[in-house]
Amino acid sequence: MSRPNPTVLEDPAALARAAADHVVEVLATALAQHDTAHVALAGGSTPRAVNALLATAPRRASVDWSRVVFWFGDERCVPPDDDESNYKMNRLTLLDPLGIPATRVHRMRGEDDPTAAAADYDAVLQRELGEVPRLDLIQLGMGPDGHTASLFPGTTESIDPMRHSIAHYVPKFDRWRMTLTPRTINAARAVMITAGGAEKSDALRAVLEGPHEPDIYPAQQVRPTSGNLRWLVDAAAASKLSK
Ligand code: 6PG
Repeated sequence: MSRPNPTVLEDPAALARAAADHVVEVLATALAQHDTAHVALAGGSTPRAVNALLATAPRRASVDWSRVVFWFGDERCVPPDDDESNYKMNRLTLLDPLGIPATRVHRMRGEDDPTAAAADYDAVLQRELGEVPRLDLIQLGMGPDGHTASLFPGTTESIDPMRHSIAHYVPKFDRWRMTLTPRTINAARAVMITAGGAEKSDALRAVLEGPHEPDIYPAQQVRPTSGNLRWLVDAAAASKLSK
């Protein structure tokens, strides 16, 4: 598979607009083909601006949100009302503004034992989406170290290739994290990675143009078999790319 070719937007606001437009496009296409569309939400801070655009006009009316089921790409092992919670961030910026009922939100239970919670999530993914769960869209970010979801450098080689979601200890934070696995990410019909800011420029060059070192730069492991991968970055993050 050829190297991903990122779309470069001039600034963070343009990046958020492009990401929101892509979410609308992918979900509208999925809903034209299926009764329900399944989307995984990203964590961190970048989704805030994207969610704000999705939850307001004109994009809000472009998707039949009553037929969308929400999942999570990863979660910090904290309670759902903790400021560190990816669920809380997405609830406040997207799910509540859209009036999404809890019945259509599959959150990773950060308050529970991580290993048990990840096993439960694995089971729910299969119960709802089949033996090889295929989400319609997985939204991801990328950190300054080249991590994506909660797949951090030096933590991916021990991941069971048969699992769909796992929990693992991340020495960098001395914390446990839950995350979808590369298997599930790459089974998705579409994947969108959004990355902005100069602090990510070294990692972005390494991920997109450097040697293939997937355990050092886990974002390199994002290669959906559908081929539908969209990298959206801003000019600051792209500042060290050769092309
Ligand atoms: C998390 C995320 C993580 C995030 C990147 C980028 O829980 O932290 O899921 O993978 O997407 O760290 O984060 P920012 O958007 O805050 O730069």
